[in-house]
Amino acid sequence: MTSVNGTLPTHGNYHNYHGRVYYNHHAGPHDSRLALLPPELLAGARVLDIGCNEGWVSCEVAQSWAARRVVGVDIDDVLVRMAWKRRRTLWSHQEPPRDAPPPDASSSKKRKRKQQEDVALAPVPRADYFPASCQHMFGPLPIPPVDVGGADAFPHNVSFRCADWVNEVIPEDAGGYDVILAFSVSKWIHLNGGDDGLHRFFRRVHDALTQGGTFVFEPQQWDSYTKARKLHPVQNAKKLQLHPDIFQDVLRGIGFGPARRLGAPGEGSEYLFCCLQSMC
Ligand SMILES: C[S@@+](CC[C@H](N)C(=O)[O-])C[C@H]1O[C@@H](n2cnc3c(N)ncnc32)[C@H](O)[C@@H]1O
Repeated sequence: MTSVNGTLPTHGNYHNYHGRVYYNHHAGPHDSRLALLPPELLAGARVLDIGCNEGWVSCEVAQSWAARRVVGVDIDDVLVRMAWKRRRTLWSHQEPPRDAPPPDASSSKKRKRKQQEDVALAPVPRADYFPASCQHMFGPLPIPPVDVGGADAFPHNVSFRCADWVNEVIPEDAGGYDVILAFSVSKWIHLNGGDDGLHRFFRRVHDALTQGGTFVFEPQQWDSYTKARKLHPVQNAKKLQLHPDIFQDVLRGIGFGPARRLGAPGEGSEYLFCCLQSMC
């Protein structure tokens, strides 16, 4: 896999990462990792998705898991632009809620009842309300103003920022987050910033969480560093001491509670999930 602009993906800034790695297209556009989370975790939550890539996870959390607010942040501005594009595409494909009044609803009670019956008898709505072919021909549907759908509803509840989140603050950080997601990003932070960079990252996550907030973390295993090292300055890769098997201890030292294993996202996958409550 390459980066979007053909340069070496030294931050793990791969193009089309989600589509190839984590999404099961037979089961619909759902990330297998999100299915491992307790469903109530994301509902109504303010969520930060660090290393959001092309925005697949951020958009899914905002659209399908009832998060109140999702911010996706990525170091690569091309990926962030693609994430905004994905938000628009998903909005185009989203069908209106079934209980929305038909646009030509008349005041006549009889007609209203007939329309309700028709809706009840209608086939189960299809996911491709505005099919991709229409989008190719006419472009995506316009996003309605925020006062129509509401700020807490998709697509208004998700936005993206380009930043190196380990070293830069984004405006949304000030309000704090209930949940912070860090999927497949720690290795890249580690290789680029060394042990100090990774430590700083963990601290920043801790400080950005609201009290009792949850860090959902998918650490990459040590074996997987080998290939990535080839892309990296040797001095960083050689000096690393913080192996993934001690991350939990490091996190405890920073002030997180005990890790809870949520499972592995796919058969034979080496990745584990930890879910840590911030204690202070
Ligand atoms: C391998 S991809 C993982 C994408 C996504 N989190 C997932 O698991 O589906 C790693 C992403 O993290 C981003 N990234 C790496 N270092 C970052 C940093 N310091 N701040 C923000 N994003 C970063 C990369 O650009 C890339 O898109």
